Amino acid sequence: MKKTYITTAIPYLNGKPHVGHAVDYCLADVFARYSRLKGDEVRFQAGADEHGSKIFKKAEELGVPVRELVDENANSFKDFIAKLGVSYTDFIRTTDDAHEKRVQEIWKRLEDHIYKAKYDGWYCPGCERYITDKEYKETEGVCPDHQKPYEKLTEENYYFRISDFKDQIKEAIESDELLILPEFRKLEMLKLLEESPDVSISRPTSQLTWGVSVPGDDSQVMYVWIDALSNYLTVLGYPDDEKYADWWPATVQFVGKDILRFHAIIWPAMLLGLGLPLPRTIASHGMVLINNKKMSKSIGNVIDPVDVLDKYGLDAFRYYFLRHIDTFADSDFTWEKYDDAYNNELANDLGNLVQRLATLAKKNGIKNVSLSNDYEFSKEYTDLMENYEFSKAFDLVWGKIQDLNKKIDDEKPWSLAKNGETEKLEKCMNDLIVGLLAANYELSPFLPDASARIFEVFDSEITPPETPLFPKQ
Ligand code: MSP
Repeated sequence: MKKTYITTAIPYLNGKPHVGHAVDYCLADVFARYSRLKGDEVRFQAGADEHGSKIFKKAEELGVPVRELVDENANSFKDFIAKLGVSYTDFIRTTDDAHEKRVQEIWKRLEDHIYKAKYDGWYCPGCERYITDKEYKETEGVCPDHQKPYEKLTEENYYFRISDFKDQIKEAIESDELLILPEFRKLEMLKLLEESPDVSISRPTSQLTWGVSVPGDDSQVMYVWIDALSNYLTVLGYPDDEKYADWWPATVQFVGKDILRFHAIIWPAMLLGLGLPLPRTIASHGMVLINNKKMSKSIGNVIDPVDVLDKYGLDAFRYYFLRHIDTFADSDFTWEKYDDAYNNELANDLGNLVQRLATLAKKNGIKNVSLSNDYEFSKEYTDLMENYEFSKAFDLVWGKIQDLNKKIDDEKPWSLAKNGETEKLEKCMNDLIVGLLAANYELSPFLPDASARIFEVFDSEITPPETPLFPKQ
């Protein structure tokens, strides 16, 4: 059985989930479900990034112990991804003892590429990132993502010699041995790689205590990204449990475009330093915007995903976030667009199709229509799914649903029934139902709940739903 390992970015626990956080999980979940349907064995990691100055400061600001803050927010994320129907297999917290021990072992194994030096420069706590002088100048000292001035750091730190691996990383990315999607981001990363200096990978405890101790030097904690990136390996048991090798390298790692740079440069350098293979694919998605604006607390446009889930339920949420939020580009969410998608597409196109077909079948005694057991995904669908073009694959399936609606209108099975054209009626209904079941099979990684209900409706005895699948609101 083919083994497929899928990962998601682990969110910072300085707050509760917002709708943007749904993207990683939805994309990874679609691929996990699709892979399982193909017969793969799937390992699917999710987790929480709990160290670093950002979280420590938040706890101070709230006047709560940092552990209390991360415990509470870890629960919010876990509840959220359960509500999203995410079929993950592992949830890792970077404050887990096992993780901390394993990261220290990872550090030790990288020591040939680590040296101590003074850092005198800038830091963005929002990004948890060291800022080069060039970037500082270009942005006039203010982080464009967080709208806050960079902090000056003058510290003695450990550095990771990225330069030891640049050529190998470049080659792997250029040759697509490490496939970075989408293509234009791959080019951005190649450019960034050329400019990347060695990276500071620790902070003195006089500045920050909330982190994993550097082995053999209690006066330093690890830079949060070294700790966080390692989660993809430690969750598999690396390095002490050799079963990690059943799963590594990852088939695909889903991350947002804002954090691709860490995954395309530091992460491959760490893996090469450890003598491990690189992931097959890093798929970087776009951002969810609200009314075409970045979500931000200061604008006050942050949307709680639980409010969105509560409005029309899980299928509607996944429908919007997997079809109208483009897999790779930035996309907009507004409540109006959400209402339209629910009423005009889910309810009208899919809900009505199911209701009409099931009612017609029942009325005309049609039953025992099924997909053949060896039914397979269409080639076009498979190609899109294998290339992680999920919103396009979803469009393709939706096109099939719309075509079926048109076919009913064109072929008017009710007239065939009225005119006693039994054979024609049976063929027409059979084609329509098989068409729906085939589309529904391809729909299942996207809308697992709706898809299961539709298969139930068209079980051997066809039973129209008592209430519409998606009642109009
Ligand atoms: N802790 C780091 C990730 C470490 S991975 C080893 C982090 N956390 S985050 O909470 O800021 O972001 C978590 C994920 O959510 C990232 O993939 C990020 O791109 C994604 N998103 C955060 N806001 C988003 C939107 N508005 N839209 C889409 N995705 C967004 O970065």
